[in-house]
Amino acid sequence: MADKIARLTVDGFEGVIELPVYSGTEGPDVVDVRPLTGHGLFTYDPGFVSTAACESKITFIDGAKGILLHAGYPIEQLAEKSSYLETCFLLMNGRLPTKEEFEKFVGIIKGHTMVHEQMHNFFKGFRRDAHPMAIMVSVVGALSAFYHDSLDINNAKHREICAYRLIAKMPTIAAMCYKYSIGMPFQYPRNDLSYSENFLHMMFGNPCEEYIPNPILAKAMDKIFLLHADHEQNASTSTVRLAGSSGANPFACIAAGVATLWGPAHGGANEAVLNMLEEIGDAKNIPDFIDRAKDPKDSFRLMGFGHRVYRNFDPRANVMKKTCDDVLAELGIIDDPMLEIAKQLEQIALQDEYFVKRKLYPNVDFYSGIILKAIGIPSSMFTVIFALSRTIGWISHWNEFHSEPNKIGRPRQLYTGENKRDYPEK
Ligand code: ACO
Repeated sequence: MADKIARLTVDGFEGVIELPVYSGTEGPDVVDVRPLTGHGLFTYDPGFVSTAACESKITFIDGAKGILLHAGYPIEQLAEKSSYLETCFLLMNGRLPTKEEFEKFVGIIKGHTMVHEQMHNFFKGFRRDAHPMAIMVSVVGALSAFYHDSLDINNAKHREICAYRLIAKMPTIAAMCYKYSIGMPFQYPRNDLSYSENFLHMMFGNPCEEYIPNPILAKAMDKIFLLHADHEQNASTSTVRLAGSSGANPFACIAAGVATLWGPAHGGANEAVLNMLEEIGDAKNIPDFIDRAKDPKDSFRLMGFGHRVYRNFDPRANVMKKTCDDVLAELGIIDDPMLEIAKQLEQIALQDEYFVKRKLYPNVDFYSGIILKAIGIPSSMFTVIFALSRTIGWISHWNEFHSEPNKIGRPRQLYTGENKRDYPEK
């Protein structure tokens, strides 16, 4: 039922085209452009800058005000009071769990942390120096080959089991990608540990001695997971929805999300931040790089700055900055040269007219990269960790898509190629 009507006149078209306008609970109204096809018109919006591709109840962002809500709860409150796994429950169910429900949920996740033993064989097929994201995208897709008992996408119970499996197995797969790349034995998960402690154990433990996770680092890891859990219709989530719209199995859809996340304009940015800091090398080189970032003829951009949606500040970046300070203090890192470059870059960019005018602020990836480096995680693993964290967002959106009547995603185009012409006689 439309809340308002938009009226459109187009040169060369007779009369007025009436388009329904809907209001959500938050955010701008949306104009329903579907009647346009009946008038022989399409809308044109490369990059989906003004297109709402779906209706969703999971996450809301107000980029101008720097607001991020999951099922209505502000990200700052979740980061302070909740945990990653509780936020997973929230994203899956649209409400916080009771104590009993949460204990049951944690128990189920712990019951799924191991991967099928035959999955180990996949890793052996990769070159030792393969990028962990290359392994991740393949191994996640390969999960499709293992869990035939729960692949009916029209069965809500099956969709739920797939979500449990993914939340539980992604840390195991992520840590295996790392262990493989450094030639160390895989560490089996330890279910006596929390989600983030277990991840640190699988990353840094070895079979020869007991690994005791540092509680501050485990808390920071949990925050990184939580702050990346969902971000409404970003490129990778939209990809997962689009892949899901064809009826593809959930593991293949999540692999498509992992692939999309890999790019440096999206999840690859945290790795790109560290690579950029290394390239800058010395604080005295910062002005050159700032000049390059401002030069329209140079494709170089300051990685970790700017966001398609947040035009004032990224609320996740504020929490991440505080966590970054805690981690560096805990580890006694005060005069790291890379950190010094990061701090100076942040200050200069926050004051420079070019960045201020375009509202380019440090985003979540700017700080998460610094924290992960301090914890001892190599930059090639950063996007893998983002993928692990975002899996809950992807699977929640995929599940939401399949819980309602839906259509295959099929965008249209503005064709500017050749008109019809005949194949030449030879
Ligand atoms: N460094 C220098 N200039 C920049 C940057 C940057 N990081 N980001 C944007 N700009 C400039 C653009 O050149 C453009 O300038 P102009 O108006 O003079 O042409 C203006 O700011 C607007 O930029 P757009 O490209 O229109 O912004 P868009 O919304 O398309 O891009 C994006 C957003 C991709 C995040 C971009 O800011 C960027 O590339 N940032 C660096 C990569 C990064 O940190 N990505 C992480 C995103 S967060 C995430 O995925 C969790």
